[in-house]
Amino acid sequence: MAKALIVYATRTGETEKIGELIAEGLRFSGVEVDMIKTTDVKNANELNGYDAVILGAPTYHGDMIQGMKTFLFLAEKADLEGKVGGAFGAFGWSGEAPDRIYDTMLHIFKMKMVGTPLRLKASTLGGGIQMAQGYGKDIAKLLTA
Ligand SMILES: Cc1cc2nc3c(=O)[nH]c(=O)nc-3n(C[C@H](O)[C@H](O)[C@H](O)COP(=O)(O)O)c2cc1C
Repeated sequence: MAKALIVYATRTGETEKIGELIAEGLRFSGVEVDMIKTTDVKNANELNGYDAVILGAPTYHGDMIQGMKTFLFLAEKADLEGKVGGAFGAFGWSGEAPDRIYDTMLHIFKMKMVGTPLRLKASTLGGGIQMAQGYGKDIAKLLTA
């Protein structure tokens, strides 16, 4: 069974909720999922052993929250090249974080990224349930492509 890891940062829990929905989509598709907060990852080795790594962070002041920035420097030391990836996050109006994480995963980590990042507004999270689950399913498809 393919294994995916979702690593997220959050301040008020919205990005975590999106991560849980992505996890549901992956599990519907038969993928085993672990989910962990950026601050609980202590060593780049913890990212090894997964077929897909999905990273999520909210946008504050036009940027990703600090915990994800720190984590990306740690993740640089893991061997993620060629692994399947996705990026997501909750936002209010501008939502830069998922795009920046996605670009780092694509250009620096050289991962096989799903079509686009997923950005969901906290206020519309209800309507975004299917989108987030669908994002998980899309990542699962890429695992078998
Ligand atoms: C002080 C502050 C600054 C924020 N700055 C931005 C911003 O620059 N762009 C944006 O899209 N959303 C911004 N937001 C909205 C958050 O991204 C939004 O509330 C999001 O759902 C928080 O996700 P979290 O619960 O995972 O922390 C800001 C929120 C606060 C409280």
